[in-house]
Amino acid sequence: MTPTDELLSLAHDIAREAGELARRRRAEGVHIAATKSALADIVTAADREVEALIRERLARARPDDGFFGEESGAEQGTSGITWVVDPIDGTVNYAYGIPAYAVSVAAVEGMPEPTRWRALAGVVFAPMLGELFHATAGGGAWLTLDDHPQRLTVPAHAPAAGALLATGFGYDPATHDGDLARVGRVMPLARDLRRIGSASLDLCYVAAGRLDGYFERGLNPWDHAAGALIVEEAGGRVGGLPGGRPGKDLTIAAASELFAALEAAIDEH
Ligand code: IPD
Repeated sequence: MTPTDELLSLAHDIAREAGELARRRRAEGVHIAATKSALADIVTAADREVEALIRERLARARPDDGFFGEESGAEQGTSGITWVVDPIDGTVNYAYGIPAYAVSVAAVEGMPEPTRWRALAGVVFAPMLGELFHATAGGGAWLTLDDHPQRLTVPAHAPAAGALLATGFGYDPATHDGDLARVGRVMPLARDLRRIGSASLDLCYVAAGRLDGYFERGLNPWDHAAGALIVEEAGGRVGGLPGGRPGKDLTIAAASELFAALEAAIDEH
């Protein structure tokens, strides 16, 4: 097994265990433990417990690696590898019993900062759907369902009859007017628009050809670390502001032809 495959295998096992814990806790009943930056930005006790489990498993298996998680913060390592983790991506869905939520785990090398890291391995596991999306740098993107891995490929050409797009609305209410104006500019390209509520799944759905494109402002590193690698390994393009990497200001994912059209529509003033 290559070192990258070892990272993937660990991410895979931990994401499955964490996803099962999240699913179990949801079945037992969920309550919102706190509201963070905005009304929509919530954390449940399960988010914290699931992240603690992931952090403990990673520390046990790879004590020299760094950690960067949504709920429990960052810790620098000495190995050059950092784990970027969202224990439950789609917490609002989780709280309301909508099955579109996922555990997202990525191993990155370099500075633990999205414009400077290189993602090596990423896993997004949706426990209610039993779907595990995964990728390694140079090893392709895959969806494993019922133990059957299937390779993912983003269609090369933009759909002739309008694209199925997804977006999201970052938690900062001050950005919502601008987000809605963007939606208006992008709609002429769209067959229809989805707001799934889990950025990691939005990205994986682009990789799987279930969505033609996705864009959102306000994402945090743990929302896109694994999903962006999965899109790129499926042959899609992921970026941010023109020429930049995905990040808080903007994340766009699509096949390259559509990417350019989306970028232009989003940018228009
Ligand atoms: C959120 C989801 C949502 C997106 C937000 C994210 P969380 O992640 O991915 O779809 O619109 O920007 O923060 O808070 O549920 O982990």
